[in-house]
Amino acid sequence: MPSKVPLLLLSLLSWFGTSHCCLQDPASAYRFTGAVCRLTYPAAVVLNEKTTKVIEAAFQHARYPSMKGEKSLLFIGKVMYGLDNLEIHNLSIGQSAFELHPGEGIAMEISNVSAVFKGTIQYGYGSWLVNFGHSVDFEIDSQIDLGINPKLYCGDGKVAADTTDCYLNFHKLRLHLQGDKEPNWLKKLFTDFITLTVKLVIKGQICKEINKAANILADFIQDTAEQFLTDGDISVDIGITAAPVITANYIESYHKGLTKYNNKIAVINESVFHPSQLTEDRMIYFWISDQFLNPMLKAAHQDGRFQLNVSGEELTTLLRTNLSTAMPEFIRKCLLDSASPELRLWSSSVPYLNSSILGTTIWVQASGQLHCESQGTPVLFFQTSMAVDITTSYVNKKVLLQGHPTEISVFRAELPLQDQQLYDEALEFIKEAVVKIGTPKVLSVLGVELTRLLDKQGLYQFDLFNPEVLPRDGFVVIQMDFGFPHHLLVEFLKRTLQ
Ligand SMILES: *[C@@H]1O[C@H](CO)[C@@H](O)[C@H](O)[C@H]1NC(C)=O
Ligand SMILES: *[C@@H]1O[C@H](CO)[C@@H](O)[C@H](O)[C@H]1NC(C)=O
Ligand SMILES: *[C@@H]1O[C@H](CO)[C@@H](O)[C@H](O)[C@H]1NC(C)=O
Ligand SMILES: *[C@@H]1O[C@H](CO)[C@@H](O)[C@H](O)[C@H]1NC(C)=O
Ligand SMILES: *[C@@H]1O[C@H](CO)[C@@H](O)[C@H](O)[C@H]1NC(C)=O
Ligand SMILES: *[C@@H]1O[C@H](CO)[C@@H](O)[C@H](O)[C@H]1NC(C)=O
Repeated sequence: MPSKVPLLLLSLLSWFGTSHCCLQDPASAYRFTGAVCRLTYPAAVVLNEKTTKVIEAAFQHARYPSMKGEKSLLFIGKVMYGLDNLEIHNLSIGQSAFELHPGEGIAMEISNVSAVFKGTIQYGYGSWLVNFGHSVDFEIDSQIDLGINPKLYCGDGKVAADTTDCYLNFHKLRLHLQGDKEPNWLKKLFTDFITLTVKLVIKGQICKEINKAANILADFIQDTAEQFLTDGDISVDIGITAAPVITANYIESYHKGLTKYNNKIAVINESVFHPSQLTEDRMIYFWISDQFLNPMLKAAHQDGRFQLNVSGEELTTLLRTNLSTAMPEFIRKCLLDSASPELRLWSSSVPYLNSSILGTTIWVQASGQLHCESQGTPVLFFQTSMAVDITTSYVNKKVLLQGHPTEISVFRAELPLQDQQLYDEALEFIKEAVVKIGTPKVLSVLGVELTRLLDKQGLYQFDLFNPEVLPRDGFVVIQMDFGFPHHLLVEFLKRTLQ
């Protein structure tokens, strides 16, 4: 059966990547795979619904070149003719369908494309041969089925689609000549010529345009994803490690997920990925290795991303939270008496993340300073070491991080107190404040930061349904269903095809 590939689907798969060759054997490629994207059949259905729009754009953006021909006829002699100004009108597209062929590719079929082609025939014969003396406008009613059987392969370290298996079947191709003054033999000649030429031209141009559209959209998605993962000096190589795999139910692509920072690139060579770790009932899955996330955390730490300054009103409001430990007097005085108290928090060790079926835990050392005046020495300095269980959710198009500290120790503190009892009380207070105020505050700021990264690329415009982040042994799975808002597609096509 002839088939069609949802072009958007291709594009989504085409992610990005810059690097070396892919491994032939997926199993050995898994070890080097930091991130996996699985798009299942239901997702392909949603994307396929938009395929007709892309095909429409392909038809409309195709440029149809002028064509020339000549023929020698008995009694008449040589006849020359040319086809100019071919334009498409009243395009309508019936429906598009697709199938996944395991191990082979995708089959797409777009049926019942009807269009009116308009153009001009120039012709000359006998004594008018020298310069085409005559012209006649024509219209062709056509009804076409279009089939594409894209193959996905690993080209240049990224997912590439080969759409050369593209064909058109013409159900109808009816020529109308304007005016009808031409003799019958000429009409017959034009009909043969035009029918053949138009078939060839349309096929060539449409298939070329579809290939172009697929590549432009692929690059667009690729760039978007790359930019999403690039922030400041931190970037990620998401080139692929193996050719994408197609089964009857999903298409899966395998990516390196190597963080680049300061001319250093992470190494992933002991990944635990196996296809059995993902199910097939949600539309899209992202499998993300701890080995992908840890170098990212390290780069963010080294880049000074984990810093938070809270001052003035915001700080006093924050510290008004009801804690069971009493606030030490010197802190209270600092908050009340100074014009601009400021609390500075920062990560003082590389955070380490570990996922297991029980949850994702981050270990980190954090330091803090309390300044009563923005200049001068801090009234308080402390260092804590903590383990925090993290849960991630996405609500109202915002990333929410929540954390429950499971271990915390304040292992160093410098305060303006000699009294051992007050010192111990202060430690207790710091500990409780870090757990109940500091951690939620820092995570909420990080959530805002992650939301900003999503917003930056307009990804929040997708309708995401019930996204879940599931910690597993050594990796996390992000799974969700999605809708493809129409306006997004329109914008997409505008930006890519104009
Ligand atoms: C396109 O469709 C409209 C409305 O059906 C019709 O009036 C018009 O003549 C058509 N144009 C061509 C070129 O067939
Ligand atoms: C194809 O389109 C024509 C006109 O738009 C319609 O009459 C016909 O039923 C369609 N055929 C199929 C198979 O969709
Ligand atoms: C993985 O890479 C690290 C760092 O390059 C290296 O020390 C280690 O031996 C590698 N492990 C395997 C299994 O190749
Ligand atoms: C916090 O304040 C310190 C000292 O003023 C400054 O060096 C640092 O850049 C600030 N950090 C942020 C994230 O604003
Ligand atoms: C503050 O916490 C204490 C002890 O946990 C509790 O008894 C008290 O009702 C709380 N007050 C407010 C205003 O929440
Ligand atoms: C990290 O998680 C794995 C399970 O993936 C577990 O076996 C291991 O003990 C954990 N490591 C730490 C330091 O908690």
